[in-house]
Amino acid sequence: MCGIIAVIQNKGQVAPFLHQALKRLEYRGYDSVGITTIEKDHLFTKKDKGKIDEVHRKHNLDNLPGSIGIGHTRWATHGIPSLFNSHPHFDCDEKIAVVHNGVIDNFLELRKELAKRGHEFGSDTDTEVIPHLIEEKMKEGNTLKEAIKYATGKIEGTYAIVAMSTLESDKIVCTRNGNPLVIGRKDNTSYVSSDIPAFLPMTNNMILLLDGEIATLTTNEVVIEKLSDGAIVERDTIKISWTADQAQKGGFPHFMLKEIHEQPDAIKQTLRIRTEVFEGPAKIIEASKRVMLLAMGTSGHSAMAGRHMIASNSGIVPSFELASDFQDVMYDSITTDDCVIAITQSGETTDTITSVKYAKELGAQVIAITNVVGSSITRIADYTIITQAGPEIGVAATKTLMVQLTALAQLSIAIGERTEFRTKEYLKDRKQNLEEIPQKIARIIAIEEEKARRLANIYHNRPSFLFLGRGISIATAFEGALKLKEISYNHAEGYSAGESKHGPIALVEQDYPVIFIAPKDNTHGKVIGNIMEMKARGANIISVIEENDTDLMELSDQTFQIPAGIYHEFSPMAYVVPLQLFSYYMARRNGYDPDKPRNLAKSVTVL
Ligand code: F6R
Repeated sequence: MCGIIAVIQNKGQVAPFLHQALKRLEYRGYDSVGITTIEKDHLFTKKDKGKIDEVHRKHNLDNLPGSIGIGHTRWATHGIPSLFNSHPHFDCDEKIAVVHNGVIDNFLELRKELAKRGHEFGSDTDTEVIPHLIEEKMKEGNTLKEAIKYATGKIEGTYAIVAMSTLESDKIVCTRNGNPLVIGRKDNTSYVSSDIPAFLPMTNNMILLLDGEIATLTTNEVVIEKLSDGAIVERDTIKISWTADQAQKGGFPHFMLKEIHEQPDAIKQTLRIRTEVFEGPAKIIEASKRVMLLAMGTSGHSAMAGRHMIASNSGIVPSFELASDFQDVMYDSITTDDCVIAITQSGETTDTITSVKYAKELGAQVIAITNVVGSSITRIADYTIITQAGPEIGVAATKTLMVQLTALAQLSIAIGERTEFRTKEYLKDRKQNLEEIPQKIARIIAIEEEKARRLANIYHNRPSFLFLGRGISIATAFEGALKLKEISYNHAEGYSAGESKHGPIALVEQDYPVIFIAPKDNTHGKVIGNIMEMKARGANIISVIEENDTDLMELSDQTFQIPAGIYHEFSPMAYVVPLQLFSYYMARRNGYDPDKPRNLAKSVTVL
């Protein structure tokens, strides 16, 4: 939700880099964009409503002078997408420029107070109070840093703030509370951004900034101090393993398609995580009275599948709760005997972070599964498992789902080794099966991609779809439906096939498309029954089946076929792949950009 980038370098024009960095952050929001630079004690700005390419075509974002600048790509919360609401925002004298990601809860009150004191506002945003608060303090003779400290004392809410001023044009100052900011350093240049890919082509030397800290970036150094007492924080530079190539399209038309193709490799990388990483979490889970999986969206579907993996391999049956509703269903019943497994690819989703903090306050142990080193969740969790998808730029999650499922599968085996619910041989065999999945997924992509494209041509204008599965395949059905609706905007509902006859079947009429996820597991016979019920009402059946499942081939109008020999608890990893491809080609057939679905942002940092 909103992407921020700022750079200070000792010479050369910074705007072209800011423009490209914003392109790499566009997945965080794309309803407006802006860049401000400083040159000879003046601010220069280009900003407007629209996607970056549109705004660049209109205004040439590269054509700004100066070697210090800030940029922002917006996902609107307060104020419609418009030129005036685009960031950066300024003080009355246009000497201070600010970009912000987050929500200032008390902005109305602050705005009224500031207006009474003569400040004039040019936007409807919550952000704009920040430069005006900074302005007041700087006018009293304080430095930019001191003025930002003052502003953080006044505002309530969540924020990542980056500011610069013509009055101190040799520095950028930034601070955060609940929204991400990472700092990059190389030679005579300092960077700060919402996410690593923004500066990845220039450096993979990253410095974390934590909540409650303020950083001053100059060309020579980065100085971090605590907001509370000004104490200097010594923080090591982390070398991250992601490469700039991973954040490029690499010849694919969209990031989403590239990321679907990267899944076999992402699983392989995640399978290389040392087994010891799973031992601490497995011990906690075994010892806990209650184990609760928490997540949102696609990560929630990983959690639903993970529940089956853990149950089937260890005999412990965790619950799954949507992080957004966790507090409302727990009624403060959490104790020190409980354990929470939070799954979030970004590590920044506010729903998830908030409920994890709540669980921890009440004494629960927290295990996090995330793809981002140093993200907020890693600083709350007792144990963190870092998945190895590399950067995911497409807004719709694909390869991060895959690595979450991989990590959950590994975790389920590690717990099983402790509980001895299954024999050693059984679990060894599971591990072997998991190792074979990347190659099977590569085969699915090679064979089924063309079919996905063909079926998208047939089904693209159907207004509504049902996705049905039983047992663990309910998670796959939910994910298939989510992918389709979020990027192709066809209405799609994921449902339990068992439950479908208790209501959703009323939707079915002649030729209504129903997609069944039907691996040859213990649900197979019952799924055939559900297919018969749907066919009897004229449904058009598309099934995702094990290859050469002749019964289902006969019953279905269309099939996607999955190689045999995948154990049922790992089946979502393979069975979801044709559904990802189908959604991708549906979006394209319907004329939408699969990488940038409307109204969505990759990292949802509001409640
Ligand atoms: C869907 C999607 C979202 C995210 C959800 C949680 O394709 O990407 O549903 O899965 O917003 O995000 P994380 O995993 O970052 O917590």
